[in-house]
Amino acid sequence: MSKLDLLLQQAADAIRLARRVVALTGAGISVESGIPAFRGTQGLWEKYDPMEYAHIDALRAHPEKVWRMLLELHTLVRDARPNPAHLSLARMEKKGYLRAIITQNIDHLHQDAGSSFVIEFHGTGHRLACMSCGERYPSQEMEVEEIPPRCPCGGILKPDVVFFGEPIPWRALIQAQEESKHCDVMLVVGTSAVVAPACDMPYLAKERGARILEINPEETPLTHTITDLFLQGSAGDILPRLVDLL
Ligand code: APR
Repeated sequence: MSKLDLLLQQAADAIRLARRVVALTGAGISVESGIPAFRGTQGLWEKYDPMEYAHIDALRAHPEKVWRMLLELHTLVRDARPNPAHLSLARMEKKGYLRAIITQNIDHLHQDAGSSFVIEFHGTGHRLACMSCGERYPSQEMEVEEIPPRCPCGGILKPDVVFFGEPIPWRALIQAQEESKHCDVMLVVGTSAVVAPACDMPYLAKERGARILEINPEETPLTHTITDLFLQGSAGDILPRLVDLL
């Protein structure tokens, strides 16, 4: 039995014994769906400076420039489909072993895979929001002819996602904190765990005695501090094998 097989058995045992399992996911879980992550080689922030393109002040000051990047990201996300990692978390929920997913992703792939309790910590790319009147529209129905797209009120539309410099939607923050505080296992999948307050969730769970199971090809600030089981590898490989053991 390989070291990873042993860790998979230990992770499955921890999940089977748990009362409440919660997952925290990041961009890494969608890499195998063709959506680049933000950090690391080929990361989106290697190509675009996040402070120039993903900060709310940049969108306000240069809406056309930021919308050109957003449209590029939109085409990547629009054609993406759930991969075996998303499908495995949905299967885990159906088997009764996963209560909620806290995702930092805006690609809606967890819901498309069939997961029903998904907390969208950084909002969703499936809606556009008016920066003037606050009205929200389903983004699929809004053909973006001109950039920046505008609301009937004349205001500029933005994806209903959390830009740097913006607060986390309060309902998502409260729900994520509650789920993190009351779980006894947290699966942390595909996140570099460097962006707060999302990266605080594993610490909230750990403080209350939860076990932290981390799935990532790379180590993160969690790996040698609060992670109990580090399953090193891609989510699309590890999660199906883990759920097969449940
Ligand atoms: N399977 C699992 N993890 C993977 C895979 C894979 N196939 N490929 C890459 N990873 C890991 C990387 O090793 C990295 O640790 O996914 C992580 C991706 O990290 P980031 O790109 O920083 O993404 P994320 O942690 O979600 O970023 C958090 O930062 O820019 C903001 O709002 C943005 O939500 C995002 C937040």
